[in-house]
Amino acid sequence: MKNDNVVWHQHKVTRTARAEQKRQQPCVLWFTGLSASGKSTIAGAVEQKLFELGHHTYLLDGDNVRHGLNKDLGFSDTDRVENIRRIGELSKLFADAGLIVLSAFISPFRSDRRLVRDLMADGEFVEIYMNTPLEVCEQRDPKGLYQKARKGEIKNFTGIDSEYEVPEHPEVILNTAECSVEECAALVIDYLRTHSIIH
Ligand code: PPS
Repeated sequence: MKNDNVVWHQHKVTRTARAEQKRQQPCVLWFTGLSASGKSTIAGAVEQKLFELGHHTYLLDGDNVRHGLNKDLGFSDTDRVENIRRIGELSKLFADAGLIVLSAFISPFRSDRRLVRDLMADGEFVEIYMNTPLEVCEQRDPKGLYQKARKGEIKNFTGIDSEYEVPEHPEVILNTAECSVEECAALVIDYLRTHSIIH
């Protein structure tokens, strides 16, 4: 709820000054896709590469954020909307701090991803769609969650009985069934170079 008695405070050290000090273009690399589609793995590989190139990064990851900040949220549509809203705001704060943020969340709904995009300036939100087929994700099933979902032991599981809305115009599309981790990470790094986010 918005409170009219709460007024935004403009601090002296600006976003631009912080970014200049870091000598990098802050942005949010938003990895979206099914469970086990490779979001965390590829985000981790991209982060490692950026770190080696001297960039200051931070990786936000679904399972981890749900252990702390969002431990009060489950997987109903309402809770997923709130999950992504909070993570969007969090990603923006980290980008305001001057960092290249890597956010890896299923983020199944287009409208929520759109809200996060709209929080960022033009070109500072890079949507990376993990276009790994459901059959491949289900075969991997590293946490045994698909198996439980098929047996009805987990309700509202994305791709089984909860919807995933495929991005319409993502900046990058990756298919981890066809490309290695290194190849996928290289495609993201290429995008960042081509669009002058890194040099
Ligand atoms: S969401 O949809 O963006 O709010 O989800 P996210 O915060 O990324 O959390 C996804 C991880 O939670 C585990 N998990 C589930 N995923 C989907 N549906 C249901 N019902 C569910 N229950 C638990 C699962 O391990 C997801 O991790 P990843 O890394 O995506 O496999």
